Amino acid sequence: MTFDAFAAFRMTGHNVIITGGAQNIGAGIAKTLSGAGAKVMIADLNGDMAAKTAAEIQKVTGNDCRGMKCDVTSLDDINAVVDATVKAFGGISTLVNNVGWGGRHENPAAIAEEAFVASYKLNTISAYRMSMACLPHLLKSRNPTITNSGSMSSAAPAYDILAYGTAKAALNQMMVSVAHMLAKKVRVNNVLIGTVMTAGYGDAGIDPEMQERLSHPDNLTGRPGKPEDVANAMLWLCSPASGWVSGQTINVHGGGNVVRLFGK
Ligand SMILES: NC(=O)c1ccc[n+]([C@@H]2O[C@H](COP(=O)([O-])OP(=O)(O)OC[C@H]3O[C@@H](n4cnc5c(N)ncnc54)[C@H](O)[C@@H]3O)[C@@H](O)[C@H]2O)c1
Repeated sequence: MTFDAFAAFRMTGHNVIITGGAQNIGAGIAKTLSGAGAKVMIADLNGDMAAKTAAEIQKVTGNDCRGMKCDVTSLDDINAVVDATVKAFGGISTLVNNVGWGGRHENPAAIAEEAFVASYKLNTISAYRMSMACLPHLLKSRNPTITNSGSMSSAAPAYDILAYGTAKAALNQMMVSVAHMLAKKVRVNNVLIGTVMTAGYGDAGIDPEMQERLSHPDNLTGRPGKPEDVANAMLWLCSPASGWVSGQTINVHGGGNVVRLFGK
């Protein structure tokens, strides 16, 4: 008989919802979990892109992967994606709260209250609502987990994206509390992600010069991250392989400790 060290990493029999999985990091996580054997529902504001990405993933993994429109700041949309996933797959074992982002503030000393509230709604409160909507189904599943895409900017200063970093810091604390609330029932962990260069950096108002600098980070690996770097950590945290890990906030950021310092 041979020993299969990868068996505990297999996601066969797991039913996943991943938010914001239509592209970039979320699409990488969806592909890896699907490739490990899970059935995956991509819930994304961009429903067309979610469906297209899901079809591409299914083509390469051979496992049921679907996509649908869902605005995670809408409770109606959250309930709709939960219902659709249960109908399609028969349950939900695995939630990945991956949605998140925030704009850069030209003047961090004058961020409007609305910007803070919007950031909390997208980055923090949506993850809580998704988790609670999935909870009855997680409680019926084997190896139930909630894993969250956090950010290094929640733990290191990044003052031009202060509203985002603040909301992500709240996400860390909230989810460690949820892990304790659901002790012995559902494992809950956060991944603090470092720089993974995406089109989102330009959209958020990070100028090309700063993007160029971020592409060559002074971290312990000497490179920015790739979606699969994050996806591999997510696979560990979602799979039975991490069965003794809950309530943790782990760094997947190339060993970098600085988000960015202007004026250097
Ligand atoms: N890219 C990075 O360098 C980086 C660094 C640290 C943390 N993160 C975190 O990782 C996660 C993924 O980052 P990314 O760079 O791949 O993001 P992205 O902006 O490239 O993609 C996010 C996806 O979320 C979707 N989305 C946006 N608003 C939504 C909503 N209200 N409801 C549902 N879907 C919505 C978008 O359509 C998009 O497909 C985020 O939580 C982000 O904060 C990213």
